[in-house]
Amino acid sequence: MAAKAHVDSLRAAGRTIIDFTIGEPDFPTPPHIVAAGVDALNAGQTRYTGSAGIAPLRKAIAAKLANENGLAYTPGQVVVGNGAKHVIYNALAATLNEGDEVIVPAPYWVSYPDMVALHGGKPVIVPSDERTGFKLVPQALEQAITPRTRWLILNSPNNPTGAVYTAAELKAIGEVLLRHPHVWVMTDEIYEHFVYGAAKHVSLLALVPELAGRALVVNGMSKAYAMTGWRIGYGAGPQALVNAIVLLLSQSTSCASAMAQVAAVTALEGPQQCVADARQLFEARRDRMSALLNRIPGIRCTAPDGAFYVFASVAGLIGATTPAGRKLSSDVDVMMYFTDVASVASIDGASYGLPAHLRLSFATGIEQIEAGCAALARAIQALNFSPITEETSHA
Ligand SMILES: Cc1ncc(COP(=O)(O)O)c(C=O)c1O
Repeated sequence: MAAKAHVDSLRAAGRTIIDFTIGEPDFPTPPHIVAAGVDALNAGQTRYTGSAGIAPLRKAIAAKLANENGLAYTPGQVVVGNGAKHVIYNALAATLNEGDEVIVPAPYWVSYPDMVALHGGKPVIVPSDERTGFKLVPQALEQAITPRTRWLILNSPNNPTGAVYTAAELKAIGEVLLRHPHVWVMTDEIYEHFVYGAAKHVSLLALVPELAGRALVVNGMSKAYAMTGWRIGYGAGPQALVNAIVLLLSQSTSCASAMAQVAAVTALEGPQQCVADARQLFEARRDRMSALLNRIPGIRCTAPDGAFYVFASVAGLIGATTPAGRKLSSDVDVMMYFTDVASVASIDGASYGLPAHLRLSFATGIEQIEAGCAALARAIQALNFSPITEETSHA
């Protein structure tokens, strides 16, 4: 949200910015879903709904979880919130006591650690890097668990890295969790439909159903159906947890927007071609962006398996000097240099818990991707690298 505000302010000042910070599909909500929302308004769906969400939507979500994810939930075990973010926030509010630990594998979506801290919890960041495909490995999880651990938050496909856990990797994580019955797991599956190449999205709970009594599945309409502004997300879990979340919603937002809930039913029960089309579009952009970035000296990335972000290493640029004589000493400096000199906005890896990287979103047109990468290449050409000495070249 901060990156978006920065780009907006630069544009307001008259700058033309190529925006690689975008965290949402760049195309509109499919027309049949928009029509369902408009029809809902015209039909008088303009009032409060029950705090857990309208019955048809909870039923549609339970059916979706069964059909697409192999998960058995009753509609009563589903809670609808104002976005997945809102569901995660309230799940943490409902469960965390002061000092409770929440394991957040890094790189992570920026909101997790802050939401944990807001509720008096302690985010326990478990680092990972390219060597494990930016994924949490079972040994690292095992070591991070203490008697105070309340939750593990697992996000696959991942924002910011696009990492997608395989069934074998999830099973191995599930086995660790089975050995620690006090640890709950939250699976954020909001990018599930955006997976590329041979990658497949699998739900941890479909593989390790024994965890269902201490798990919350989180998902939403924002990414798959290009509905970020409608603010509909959901969670499914054990009844007591769902009831606690609903209780909090009833005293804060009361309910999600009635017309948006009706539109969400149409999104889930209507034709799914729009999701397949979006996936295909993103895959072509992913291929183009990763190929172009890898041609730029100093930038290195692997094509992500999922989501719509490339998480590229810019370690090769740190230490260089700009034409204005400033030294780039971190990924934040590189990000600022790209914004100022190339007019290309991105987000520093440090914000996601892994410095020396940038997150570059490909939720934008191919022309923008090509123009942005060309501008980055030109900006890098203008940098001065200190000559490589004998020692450093052997280091
Ligand atoms: C990993 C992850 N989870 C959840 C969300 C929140 O989505 P929603 O719009 O449903 O609140 C986002 C949005 O960027 C995200 O990247």
